[in-house]
Amino acid sequence: MNLEEKKAYFLLDWKTDEQISFESVFGNSNLVDLEIGGGRGEFLVQRSASLTDTNFLEIEVKGKRIKTILRKLDPVHNTNVRLIRRFVDESIRKILPAASIRRIYIFHPDPWPKRKHHKKRLFQNRILDIFKEILVPGGEILVSTDHPGYADWIVDLFQKRKDFQGLYPDGYSTIPFTDHIPTYFECKKRDEQEKIFYMIFRKVEL
Ligand SMILES: C[S@@+](CC[C@H](N)C(=O)[O-])C[C@H]1O[C@@H](n2cnc3c(N)ncnc32)[C@H](O)[C@@H]1O
Repeated sequence: MNLEEKKAYFLLDWKTDEQISFESVFGNSNLVDLEIGGGRGEFLVQRSASLTDTNFLEIEVKGKRIKTILRKLDPVHNTNVRLIRRFVDESIRKILPAASIRRIYIFHPDPWPKRKHHKKRLFQNRILDIFKEILVPGGEILVSTDHPGYADWIVDLFQKRKDFQGLYPDGYSTIPFTDHIPTYFECKKRDEQEKIFYMIFRKVEL
């Protein structure tokens, strides 16, 4: 498949706020995992090839990154993947059905380190409200960051809520997840001797 053919196969042209039917998009009723901001797609491409009974939706805002991911996707091993180019904010609630996602993966989200830019961070209570709605009962959010201040910010946000439970006693761990797949950013930061913080938060039924 050339790039245009891959676009036609993997990329959902989802410009509207119409709700996605995962059954019609993937052609099956398997569970769906969502990755946000997958960058160059290392995690998406490898995990989807090994978890063939799970569907994977990637939402990434940059067209250049979408192209890089498309180049890596293989029509034989990644038939369970679809991509959407879109900026993730509360509006994703319109396109993603309630209780439809098993796991959300967000690796090395932009840290917006300056205090005046903290409002631009993806992790805010209003997006956690949306994550709670789209996750299935017991669904999980897996996060990693190399930015200690952002790790604290994320842990603090979740700890103040009753509807999510952190799975690490200290909020985060510096030991990678089981079956971990290092992303481009993680490898870069490790080469720069940065510590990586891993977090898992599970949706709790109240
Ligand atoms: C620092 S990079 C990390 C990429 C990859 N996850 C990794 O670990 O190598 C952040 C990525 O998130 C994407 N991104 C940032 N904000 C986003 C948003 N609100 N919605 C979708 N993608 C976003 C960027 O385009 C970029 O590819």
